Amino acid sequence: MEPIVWTDELSVGVVLFDEQHKRLVRMLNRMIKDPGASTRSETVSDILTELTRYAQEHFKCEEDWMIQHDYPRLEEHREEHVEFRKTVAELCVAASSGLDSVPKILLDYLKSWLTHHILHEDMQFKSFNEELQSKPTAG
Ligand SMILES: [Fe+2]
Ligand SMILES: [Fe+2]
Repeated sequence: MEPIVWTDELSVGVVLFDEQHKRLVRMLNRMIKDPGASTRSETVSDILTELTRYAQEHFKCEEDWMIQHDYPRLEEHREEHVEFRKTVAELCVAASSGLDSVPKILLDYLKSWLTHHILHEDMQFKSFNEELQSKPTAG
């Protein structure tokens, strides 16, 4: 599989979130470029550590922003974040027990997160934010 190249099509219209999503794409690309990585490899352990931190930081930014702007899909969106954290935590446990399939599960999960969450759920920020920007500011 070829590494993912960032283009404007991946942009959700909020600069901070795009920058954070690029971090996820870099992690995904690191997995793609190291297809033979084993469960106990540095690649897998670095990525699991970084993903745990990424989920804390990035999801908090998105959720704070959604709350601040009365975003209508906050609950559904937050549920997906909860699922992601749970999956990453489970993968950390699986990795420390040496389960062989961790690298493949991790790669597939990151690809599907990009397609299903970032390009679907996060992408809905774009039109919402455009509308927000076009409204005159109160006060
Ligand atoms: Fe996101
Ligand atoms: Fe999100």
